[in-house]
Amino acid sequence: MNENLTIAISKGRILEQSLPLLAQLGIQTQEDPNSSRKLVFTTNDTNIRLIIIRATDVPTYVEYGAADMGIAGKDVLMEYDGDGLYEPLDLGICRCRLSLAGPGQTRVINRRPRVATKYLRTTRDYFASQGKQVDIIKLYGSMELAPVLGLADLIVDLVESGNTLKANGMVELEKIADISSRLVVNKAAMKMKQALIKPFISRLAAIL
Ligand code: PRP
Repeated sequence: MNENLTIAISKGRILEQSLPLLAQLGIQTQEDPNSSRKLVFTTNDTNIRLIIIRATDVPTYVEYGAADMGIAGKDVLMEYDGDGLYEPLDLGICRCRLSLAGPGQTRVINRRPRVATKYLRTTRDYFASQGKQVDIIKLYGSMELAPVLGLADLIVDLVESGNTLKANGMVELEKIADISSRLVVNKAAMKMKQALIKPFISRLAAIL
């Protein structure tokens, strides 16, 4: 049986805030993933390696067992359409909220409101739960620009300080969900590699 653990993390804020947590467990990469183009990083713990992938790919790698565990934002997990994951810990890092936002002044429109977002599933569920009909436009970033240029009337996006909304003349209208990063674990690995994974989760829980 393979007794190694592969942990998937995404580059950027999640990586920056995850590395100190791992360091508190005594796990350190041999090279700095923030400044390397490598995708696989060995650590001082010969059982543990990190892989650095896109945030939206973390649940996929973990569900299929290519990674045993991963660190992913709740926003990404809410969008992910799979069921092969355990989500045992809220790591409390990268806290922000997923919100509906729009221009400060309401405009009169004679059609269904258009909502720009990269969170199609969450946005669809949110408006369905409110019984409201909207057209959802998929974008991959810089959502705040869409209402400014008339591409959309509203956006659903992450808000942390609110500075990006403010800088583009928008206001937060409603919080849809609190977001933070979560530890996710492959269901089969939780059983097959429990001798490694269970102590890892307990030690991580103890430092949070
Ligand atoms: C995120 C989010 C907002 C911004 C919110 O974008 O999409 O644009 O941060 O943060 P604030 O409320 O503190 O201004 P990010 O910088 O992660 O880039 P992205 O658009 O590529 O996701």
